[in-house]
Amino acid sequence: MTGFTAVILAAGEGTRMKSNIPKMLHRVCGIPMLGHVINAAKKAGAGKVVAVVGKGAQEVQKAFESQEINFVMQAEQKGTGHALMQARKEAEGTGILMVLYGDMPLVTAESIAAMVKFHSERKPAATVMTARVQNPTGYGRIIREGQRVLAIREEKDASAEERAITEINSGFYCFDASLVFEALSKVKNDNRQGEFYLTDVVEIFNGDGRDVLAFEIADPLELSGINDRCQLAFAQSVMQKRIIGRWMNEGVTFINPDSCVVDVNVTIGKDTIIYPGVLLEGETHIGEGCLIVGPSRIKDSRIGNNAEIIMSQILESTVEDKVKIGPFSNLRPGCRIGQEVKIGDFVEMKNASVGPGSKVPHLSYVGDAVIGKKVNIGAGTIFVNYDGYKKHQTVVEDGAFIGCNSNLIAPVAVKSGSYVAAGSTITREVPENSLAVARARQENKIGWAEKRRKKIEGGNNNNG
Ligand code: UD1
Ligand code: CA
Repeated sequence: MTGFTAVILAAGEGTRMKSNIPKMLHRVCGIPMLGHVINAAKKAGAGKVVAVVGKGAQEVQKAFESQEINFVMQAEQKGTGHALMQARKEAEGTGILMVLYGDMPLVTAESIAAMVKFHSERKPAATVMTARVQNPTGYGRIIREGQRVLAIREEKDASAEERAITEINSGFYCFDASLVFEALSKVKNDNRQGEFYLTDVVEIFNGDGRDVLAFEIADPLELSGINDRCQLAFAQSVMQKRIIGRWMNEGVTFINPDSCVVDVNVTIGKDTIIYPGVLLEGETHIGEGCLIVGPSRIKDSRIGNNAEIIMSQILESTVEDKVKIGPFSNLRPGCRIGQEVKIGDFVEMKNASVGPGSKVPHLSYVGDAVIGKKVNIGAGTIFVNYDGYKKHQTVVEDGAFIGCNSNLIAPVAVKSGSYVAAGSTITREVPENSLAVARARQENKIGWAEKRRKKIEGGNNNNG
C-alpha cells in the first residue's frame, strides 16, 4: 500500500438538500456521508486526511472530533480549485496528494488504493479518475489523447461536440503534491460560473509539458454523488446492499434483505437468521445463531449467541447468550440481560439488570432494577421506580418469586428465596426465604347473592 495525503473537499453549500443540517452530516447507513469518504481514504492507506469545510464547519468538525482529521476553512465557495488551495499549508510537498469529494460516499477503498498505485508507478503530474456513463449530463468531460488527458471541460463551457463525450470526470484526482499548488495559483475564474475550477490544472500541466493520465474505473456507481434527498436515498440503497451482501457472504441469512436496515458499523455472527423488517443500528453487535424476527429495532446494543428476538426494540443494552425476548417488548437504555433469561411479551424495561435464568414473561414494567438469578417476575408486575421527583432502585435477589400483578415500590428489596403473594403492594423489605402478603384479606359472605336476588326480585328468580 502506498501512503498518500487525502484532501476531501466538503465546503459546498448543499442547497438542494433543503436542510438545516450541513449536507456532509446527512447519514448514509448510520454515519455522516463524509465519514464514508474518510474511512475509505484511511483504509486505502491515507497517512493524513485534510477536510476542506465551509458551511456548517463547526458542526462538521464537532461530528469528527474523535478522529485525527485536519480541518481547513473555505469561508466562501469560489470553486473546487479555490477549495483545494485552502489546503496548501497542510498538504504541499507531502508526496502523493489525492483529492476526494465529501459528497461521494460510495467510492471504495479498493478503487482509491488502485488509483494511488497507478499514479505512484507512472509518476505523472496528475491522474484523473474517470468513468464511462450512459448519461454524462452535468459532469465534466474528459478530452483525451490515448492515455493522456488533455483537458476537462465543464458541461457549461463545453461545445456540442465535447458534450457528446461520455467519459466523465469523477472529481477524484491524484497529484504530485509539490506541483499542484503552483499550477493552481495560475487558475483563473474566467468561465461561465465565475469559479476557480480545479479541473483547469489539467490544461496548465499539459501546457508545461507534464503528463496527466486517466484512470478509468469499471463501476461508475462508485461515483454517484449526493446533492439532494433522492440521491441520498440512492446512495443509502447501494451502500445497504453492499453491507448486507457482505454479511450474507459471512454466513448470515436474510429472508428479505431489501426490507432490512443494517448500519455500517454493525457486526453479525454466522448462522444468525434475520427476518424481514429488522433494523440494526449504530454500534450493534449480534452473535452467532440468533433469530431476529421483524419488526424489530436494535440500536447500539450487544446480543450474545443463540438469542431469539421477536418483534421487539432493544436500545443501548446488552443481552447475553440464549436469551429470548418478545414478541412486543421494549428494552430501553441500560439493560443487561443475563444468559437464558426470558423476557416475554409486552414487557418494558429500563436500566435493569437481570441475572441468568430469570423470567419476566408477560406484561411488566421493570425500571431501575437489579434482579438476581432464577427469579420469576409474575405477569403484570410493576416496578414503581418514580416518585415524581427521583428514580429509585428495586433489588430482587436470587430465586425470588414475585406473584402476578404486584407493585414493588422503590426503594425496596425482596431478599433471596422469598415469595411475594400475587396482588401485593410491597413497600418494605421482604426478608430472606419469607412470604410477603400485602393485600386486603379476602372475606366470603356465604349466601349473600341469593338473599339479594330474592329481596330485589321478590322470589321471581329470573336472571334474564
Ligand atoms: C465537479 C467537477 C466536474 C466533475 C464533477 C463530479 C470542477 C470544476 N468540476 O463539478 O468536472 O464531473 O465535480 O462530481 O471541479 N466544493 C468545495 N468548495 C467549493 C466548491 C465545491 O468544497 O468552492 C466541494 C463540494 O462540497 C463538493 C465538491 O467540491 O463536495 C464538488 O463540487 P461541485 O460544485 O458539486 O462540483 P461540480 O460542479 O459537480
Ligand atoms: Ca456535484
